[in-house]
Amino acid sequence: MAVPMEDNFADVVNKAQRGLGMADRELAQRAGIPVEALHRVKGERYDAAALRKIAPLLGLNAEALASLPEYCPVPVQVAGLAAFTTAYGGAGVNSYLVLDAASGEAAAFDTGMDCGPMLEMVRAKNLKLREIFLTHTHGDHTADLARLQSETGARIYVSERESLRGAESFEAGRAFTCGRLRITTRSTWGHSRGGATYVIDGLERPVAVVGDALFAGSMGGGMFSYADALRTNREEIFTLPPETVLCPGHGPLTTVAWERAHNPFFAE
Ligand SMILES: [Fe+2]
Repeated sequence: MAVPMEDNFADVVNKAQRGLGMADRELAQRAGIPVEALHRVKGERYDAAALRKIAPLLGLNAEALASLPEYCPVPVQVAGLAAFTTAYGGAGVNSYLVLDAASGEAAAFDTGMDCGPMLEMVRAKNLKLREIFLTHTHGDHTADLARLQSETGARIYVSERESLRGAESFEAGRAFTCGRLRITTRSTWGHSRGGATYVIDGLERPVAVVGDALFAGSMGGGMFSYADALRTNREEIFTLPPETVLCPGHGPLTTVAWERAHNPFFAE
């Protein structure tokens, strides 16, 4: 079943505006639109002309923002990568498993609200799950951590910038192995204090588990620092090969190339 987009044009406008700390009146005035028109857009009433006017003031790509309602990445599949979506507050939260078929070794990325489906796959394929890597410690991503850990005995890893009891911390740049797969860590902080991206090499395509740093057509937002969320994404995600499959914490899988073309925060 296709995972729906996490955010729409109104979410993107709200996140950018909040990140920049710009008041409605100032934004509307500078864009040359009535404040009521801005309120309608922020209330999810589509208005292409208004979106094109406010986009540059929010540092967003105008065409990408205006065409966001038509954007949804083509479903992508990678052998050895499994995505799990569990219900969270009317939407979904994602967790991932990568596995090296030759050795049967596997690594988990976040737990979502319910690690049951992931555990089922681990048992069905008789996998050795040795590591649980956390993209960040927000509750929807770590809700079932105690159960996943106790059922598998896996070690838990988290960025040193965001410690968690029971987890070992790492510095960005540290590499791990999972069978013949190589997992390299990158710091994509800004949504959270210690957001981490995990780049996996050794599958049929490069894969990066990005957590809430980036969504298809949007981003988690700069809850900790908006400017650093934008900067670290540009430096650590958009420098990956264009064919890299991105695995976000919410919404569908995407690729670097698609986000470079369609994500209003990053489109060129
Ligand atoms: Fe988050």
